[in-house]
Amino acid sequence: MAKKPVVFVTRKLPEAVHERLRRDYEPRLNLSDRLYTGEQLARVTEGADALLPCPTDKLTASVIEALPGSIKIIATFSVGYEHIDTAAAKARGIIVTNTPDVLTDATADITMLLLLGAARRAYEGERMVREGTWSSWAPTGMLGTHLTGKRLGIFGMGRIGQAVAKRARGFDMEIHYSNRHRLKPDREQGAAFYKSAEDMLPNCDFLSINCPASRETYHWLNTERIRLLPRGAIVVNTARGTIVDDEALIAALKSGHLAAAGLDVFENEPNINANYRPLPNTFLLPHLGSATIETRNGMGFRALDNLDAYFAGKAPPDRVA
Ligand code: DGY
Repeated sequence: MAKKPVVFVTRKLPEAVHERLRRDYEPRLNLSDRLYTGEQLARVTEGADALLPCPTDKLTASVIEALPGSIKIIATFSVGYEHIDTAAAKARGIIVTNTPDVLTDATADITMLLLLGAARRAYEGERMVREGTWSSWAPTGMLGTHLTGKRLGIFGMGRIGQAVAKRARGFDMEIHYSNRHRLKPDREQGAAFYKSAEDMLPNCDFLSINCPASRETYHWLNTERIRLLPRGAIVVNTARGTIVDDEALIAALKSGHLAAAGLDVFENEPNINANYRPLPNTFLLPHLGSATIETRNGMGFRALDNLDAYFAGKAPPDRVA
């Protein structure tokens, strides 16, 4: 019987994914879910044919250069792949794949949770109930902002942005979007398109960030762009923390220019900018966008579909480099 390819898996994955790995590969699993440093990764992957990393593994150029020559493919357990230096992988002839589609709905759901949580002051309310500081229902107590009829600006109208728009239409929100390319009318569904995000921002009661992280989007939401949002706007981010300049956002939340923010992702997470923590007008989650069992299984299966194709001599469906 032909030897099964060896797959090094950097984090503990759902059991259904482990089962498939055990069936079709010789997996090296990480059942204790320890975090490897880049240096350690280069060492522990010796002899592996494939690497299955997660966004928590920073595969910089130097880490990729240090990987053993046996590694032919990196199939990341994520749709985002900014944690992988794809140019360095390319230079070494290592294929890189990601897991698109399967986390679209889960991430769009979390975006709605953030929109509602930030608009309806969910964090403050939760805290009052838990801490016993809720004294009475009050006609003017804990007033938030309605989603109904409000303008939602979506920055990045890919799969997830479109899934957010679909859900937000259910809340009777008016959809505005800025994207590199205008969508076809059947996908746009009447949403207002802006080639330039700067033109869209003054028309957003809510802003949802749904673009990929890249050099171009690094600290995209900065002081100047925040100023373009109407006073009292609400910002949510389920894409990547690096897209937001934390100091600028925190200053706007403190000054009242922004009413609230809902964040599921942070620069340098989990070591977030500590100045977010005391702000009552924030609704903060620990990168839960794809955290459902169905989605995490789907991500694992999609990563394995890519490995299956590669080891069967076919083109991996989700090749990004
Ligand atoms: C991804 O896949 O890039 C997500 O951020 C994981 O939740």
